[in-house]
Amino acid sequence: MKIYAHRGYSAKYPENTLAAFRAAADLPIDGVEFDVHLTKDQQVVVIHDESINRTSNGQGFVKDMTLQALRGFDYGGWFSKEFAGETIPTLSEVLTIFRDTNLRVNIELKSDIFAYAGMEELVLKEVEALGMQEQVVISSFDHEAVARVAELAPNIENAALFVNTILEIVEYQEKLPAKALHVSLPSALRRPVQEAIQRGSVVRVWTINEVEHVILLVNSGVEAIFTDEPEKMMVFIKENSVNV
Ligand code: G3P
Ligand code: MG
Repeated sequence: MKIYAHRGYSAKYPENTLAAFRAAADLPIDGVEFDVHLTKDQQVVVIHDESINRTSNGQGFVKDMTLQALRGFDYGGWFSKEFAGETIPTLSEVLTIFRDTNLRVNIELKSDIFAYAGMEELVLKEVEALGMQEQVVISSFDHEAVARVAELAPNIENAALFVNTILEIVEYQEKLPAKALHVSLPSALRRPVQEAIQRGSVVRVWTINEVEHVILLVNSGVEAIFTDEPEKMMVFIKENSVNV
């Protein structure tokens, strides 16, 4: 079972910061996941929420601020004093950290609340500029964005994210089309996703932080888990010889 560090190494470092990504890049794991939004001046930045309220000392929506304005706040101090001074990373800064590693890089397009017109093109441009087309997986809960990535860059791996289980998921996946399915733990264990795995779908599961939940996934056929605790999961999987 493969391990992707969720929002970087987010259990020990402030999520979606360069500190969290450098720590993830140093681990012998399989991948990393992070979230992107668009600024007022059309820069792709890495942050989970639509607003900076929870993970910085500032207030407001990313879409209403320029990159320069967003860079005026601190994105590490809320987590711990030792990380005060972390900034909001751009997509290209984060991609650059992983370009020379063996980690897969899952870019999650957070366009499910605000539509961010043109975001897919901007993200693809940066991926292509760094030659990372084969290293990335582009996912979203916004399935219009998933379909658009397929249209614009059919060779890049795209993935549809799901909160709930849906029936006929394979037919839906083919229609989008999406190359992979990123599902929650309950969905991963239910009939539609289990059938999808039998039929060859690549399935990854978010967000698994308890070893008891890894045990539930043994023999489920899922390819990977997203976790805030990559080291803990790495040790558990190795010590218990957990395979898919
Ligand atoms: O991409 C998997 C996972 O990150 C989706 O949920 O809210 O943590 O972005 P969230
Ligand atoms: Mg995410």
